[in-house]
Amino acid sequence: MNSLSRKKSISELLSESQGKDGLKKTLGALDLTMLGIGAIIGTGIFVLTGVAAAQYAGPGLILSFVISGIACAFAALVYAEFASTVPVAGSAYTYSYVSLGEFMAWIIGWDLMLEYLLAASTVSIGWSGYFQMLLNGFGIHLPVWATGALGTAPGAVFNLPAVAIALIITFLLSIGVKEAARFNNIIVFVKLGAVILFILVAVWYVKPANWSPFLPFGMKGVLSGAAVVFFAYIGFDAVSTAAEEVKDPKRDMPIGIISSLIVCTVLYIIVSLILTGIVPYKLLDVAAPVAFALSFIHQDWAAGIISLGAIGGITTVLLVMLYGQTRVFFAMSRDGLLPKIFSNVHPKHKTPIVSTWLTGIVVAIIAGITPINTVAELVNIGTLSAFVLVSIGVIILRKTQPDLPRSFRVPWVPLIPILAALFCLFLMFQLPLITWIRFVVWLVIGLFIYFLYGIHHSVLGKKNLSK
Ligand code: ALA
Repeated sequence: MNSLSRKKSISELLSESQGKDGLKKTLGALDLTMLGIGAIIGTGIFVLTGVAAAQYAGPGLILSFVISGIACAFAALVYAEFASTVPVAGSAYTYSYVSLGEFMAWIIGWDLMLEYLLAASTVSIGWSGYFQMLLNGFGIHLPVWATGALGTAPGAVFNLPAVAIALIITFLLSIGVKEAARFNNIIVFVKLGAVILFILVAVWYVKPANWSPFLPFGMKGVLSGAAVVFFAYIGFDAVSTAAEEVKDPKRDMPIGIISSLIVCTVLYIIVSLILTGIVPYKLLDVAAPVAFALSFIHQDWAAGIISLGAIGGITTVLLVMLYGQTRVFFAMSRDGLLPKIFSNVHPKHKTPIVSTWLTGIVVAIIAGITPINTVAELVNIGTLSAFVLVSIGVIILRKTQPDLPRSFRVPWVPLIPILAALFCLFLMFQLPLITWIRFVVWLVIGLFIYFLYGIHHSVLGKKNLSK
């Protein structure tokens, strides 16, 4: 039992991150906000919005976005406090190691793999869809076998563009964070431009009649929609995985997390209102609903530009998700819970080279052979469960280590963290049973690995023994 609850000390963590094995510190508050927006706006708003409106929420989609946004706002406050207290790589995994102990930290790290790894695969598959649409527009068609995973279309075997984009972004990450961050910043502007262009072009075509009936599937539909569009918000937490590469993390992390979430929430609410206002919601169940909506109002020029922006935008989501996963691997391996090889840092680029390539290759394989829905559902449940545990962690850390310096403090503790946990649990319960079953299977595999490997190799465990 002692092994399961052994905790890292925060001062040890900090000195570890500043030691010779630490990562290079190059990022500022603006980089982080950009990293956040880069992670957040992607497949969720460009693709899933349409499905959620057509199948679940109807024009009430805006309420789905508000509900999910509230859950994320609470969770963002919690993440901001943790990131300002424990500014080292690994995000929620690291936070829980100091507050909830090694076993819970492992579980959270394992959940985060569902989030980052599978989100990266999901997003690669989504990217491939837009990319192929663009190619088709120019009259270029890939051989049928290369267009998607087996079973997704007649003749399809393997999603070649999805694999290619995952490997290209992995290469960018392997040569260094700053270069990748610079690339990210440019595309974030392109993507924000695409969303704003949609708003400016489409707002004039809103017909209030399309908003009626407002709740064709009732509140139940709105809530199921909220659990789906939650995917659109995932990413603000990925900012915290970069903590160890930030120049002034105590100040910059909360700014990065909260401001990126605010920008995206405002845009989502406006986009969902306009989208359901210009097209009858039933027609939105298509692969590229935002572009489709513009064609519907005969603004094909804007549809083309926005498709390009979406492709760029989805690329940066992929970048941040892959980045997040490599950092979680890095942190877990540095702690001995995964083999040491994952935390090898490249001597010149100072990037965790083995975990970067391992992540990229696994993401590419999954993206090549899996249908998008199978992976997307799991991402939401994995992320929500990590949010629940992190929220509990913040309350525990306030009790166990009340005097730790925290440059950002969640107001009204424990109320806000409790609300964060309850909102996220509530959203988890809106997801289908099959998703729960897959999630439990994933957790059981994680438990096996921990009890067969992690518990015996834990660096913390060894330290405690030698004391
Ligand atoms: N929020 C990210 C997206 O929508 C994961 O693509």
